Amino acid sequence: MNMHALFLGFLVILGFIQSQAALVRYTFVVQETNYTRLCSTKKILTVNGQYPGPTISARRGDTVIVDVVNQASQNITIHWHGVKLPRYPWSDGPEFITQCPIQPGSRFSQKIILSDEEGTLWWHAHSDWSRATVHGLLVVSPKIGTTFPFPKPHAEVPVILGEWWKNDIQTVMEDFLRSGGDPAISDALTINGQPGDQYNCSAPATTKVKVEQGKTYMLRMVNAAMNNIMFVAIANHQLTVVGTDGAYTKPLKTNYVAISPGQTIDLLLEANQPRNRYYLEAKFYNSNPRSLFDNTTTTAIIEYINGNYNASATPFSPLLPTFNDRNASANFTSSLRSLASSAHPIDVPLEITRKLLYTLSINRLPCATCVGRDNRFAASINNITFDTPRTSILGAYYRGMNGVYGDDFPDNPPFIFNYTSDSLNTSLQTPMDGTEVKILKYNDTVELVFQGTNVVSGIDHPMHLHGYSFYVVGSGFGNFDRQRDPLNYNLVDPPLQQTIAVPQNGWTAIRFRANNPGVWFMHCHFERHVSWGMEMVFIVRNGKSADTRMLPPPPDMPKC
Ligand code: C2O
Ligand code: CU
Repeated sequence: MNMHALFLGFLVILGFIQSQAALVRYTFVVQETNYTRLCSTKKILTVNGQYPGPTISARRGDTVIVDVVNQASQNITIHWHGVKLPRYPWSDGPEFITQCPIQPGSRFSQKIILSDEEGTLWWHAHSDWSRATVHGLLVVSPKIGTTFPFPKPHAEVPVILGEWWKNDIQTVMEDFLRSGGDPAISDALTINGQPGDQYNCSAPATTKVKVEQGKTYMLRMVNAAMNNIMFVAIANHQLTVVGTDGAYTKPLKTNYVAISPGQTIDLLLEANQPRNRYYLEAKFYNSNPRSLFDNTTTTAIIEYINGNYNASATPFSPLLPTFNDRNASANFTSSLRSLASSAHPIDVPLEITRKLLYTLSINRLPCATCVGRDNRFAASINNITFDTPRTSILGAYYRGMNGVYGDDFPDNPPFIFNYTSDSLNTSLQTPMDGTEVKILKYNDTVELVFQGTNVVSGIDHPMHLHGYSFYVVGSGFGNFDRQRDPLNYNLVDPPLQQTIAVPQNGWTAIRFRANNPGVWFMHCHFERHVSWGMEMVFIVRNGKSADTRMLPPPPDMPKC
């Protein structure tokens, strides 16, 4: 063999290695850890003692094994938000939907099968309210040998937006459930776990991002807060959105971002301003005048290297939209477009076999034990407030067990009324309850219109579907018009998302192909609305061929 052939052989082997998806392994030890914020110390639930938790790094198409070890004193489950897990719902994580909780002292080895996701995703606890502190990034880089569809950034910067209560989060949740009203508002918002210099005792630990003038940085942003959409901006800098929810978008230049709980946004930041210090600020957006919210501001500092600024001077501040500017939120959200390039093509279903209309409502139910009130809040989809079973729906489905769930989730709301009217009959406030799933056939093409209602009070709902990405083909304020609104659908380059904020007293239409068999949770990503019952389940049946059927469960599935 001559040198030339040897070299070619080497290249072939190298190419082979590069095209192979890797197996990546992590251990997540769930434990209680002391953390001090806002001048007080409390025990929080963490993974490996870290808050926010460790970043999982993988490449497109990899499989990641995470050995979750529960050394805490409470149950836990972990969800890989935005990972489709083709044919493998067993690792998905929502408590009592796809698994029983991992009990203290036990473990569960979760297999995270990546497929076409590329960009920023995240993981979080999916039992009670533990996701407040149990969350982290899941970064999916391009395959070896491929690149970003934009110039390689100088560095990647995580921006994890969160929420901090001085009180124990379990207590916050229990008090909230007992009261029947709204939850106690948080004491701080956070960036990468730090409230920032607008809060007591927090200035020294403010998150700092050092940048070099002339370089471009990629911000991997997730809203991991519990209960509100956020506005984010950086003083004097435009941002360029290049991706959301693990899919690329057309570059979108913007002065601010609106990001839903659950959503991720990838942004490019060009350090093209004088060498100084600039705030990255984040605040809650809250469209509902009747609900209390944490109206504080969390800050991080973008600090240019080699600047000759006064380090004790206040950095420049950005102009954020006002807290209740629902147009600012809806305009940003509806301006996202898929990249839709030949390297990153899209595949919007055009022939629809299942048309669904789901109303999203806040409700009231009588409450005899609520202190100071005779009713408690609830929430519903198509007027059904979800009753979570005490065993896994996936397990029951797989084993053909009766009595855990029903398959009568309605395709349309039970009553037709002017959903977004200012004056609605109070009789509309009472929901039904049930554990109903919607069965889809393999390869059904689904159009689902979410219709926000003004029952009790209209508010945005960031809706999230497990096991799928969906195309957001349209949205608007007011009632969805079956005749007129589809004429304006974007079927050319709609964004591919997993979480979408349905505007207050408005609607959003999504489309997806039901090609991932399994049991998949769908819910509002506001934690209080989940607790109130704004969730349902899709069961997607197996296809006919072996490669379109659910894979069998792993041997170590947790037991109830
Ligand atoms: Cu981000 Cu069901 O979750
Ligand atoms: Cu909601």
